[in-house]
Amino acid sequence: MYLWLKALHVVAVIAWMAGMLYLPRLFVYHCDAAPGSVQSETFKVMERRLLRGIINPAMIVTWAVGLYLAWVGHWYTAGWFQVKFVLVVLMSAVHGFLSARVGDFSLDRNQRSRNFYRIINEVPTVLLIGIVIMVIVRPF
Ligand code: HEM
Repeated sequence: MYLWLKALHVVAVIAWMAGMLYLPRLFVYHCDAAPGSVQSETFKVMERRLLRGIINPAMIVTWAVGLYLAWVGHWYTAGWFQVKFVLVVLMSAVHGFLSARVGDFSLDRNQRSRNFYRIINEVPTVLLIGIVIMVIVRPF
């Protein structure tokens, strides 16, 4: 059962990360679309569906199954898990930030530039690399 749950955890992780890497990219292009234009309205639908249909459910499953694995596996005392946990909390904070930006764009109230979103796009990547190194290599 543990291995089936771990497989479910990794599948949910892949969906969550795919959305976290794609959403800021949509924001980069959305910055070029005039408010009220057909293009801007299309980006709003794409962002909302990506967030509500993929990113949010995938994050919930990742957290729920991950916490269960940590509990039954007694991993919460391991150094690698504690560092991983901090990085995942940071990833969840970025999730919250991106979710609020979907709201800004949906109300045509985005204040940030395409270059800002290009840089933000790298943050989940860096966190992802750190998390996978912690859980696979377990350096401490
Ligand atoms: C949301 C909070 C998370 C918790 C509480 C959590 C917890 C865990 C636990 C306890 C395991 C099982 C370790 C084992 O059986 O050896 C695991 C496996 C794994 N986690 Fe997470 N995780 C979380 C999020 C993530 C994220 C965001 C990623 C990637 C970006 C990730 C990637 C993985 C991978 C690749 C494995 C399989 C490791 C292996 O089989 O050796 N996890 N996770």
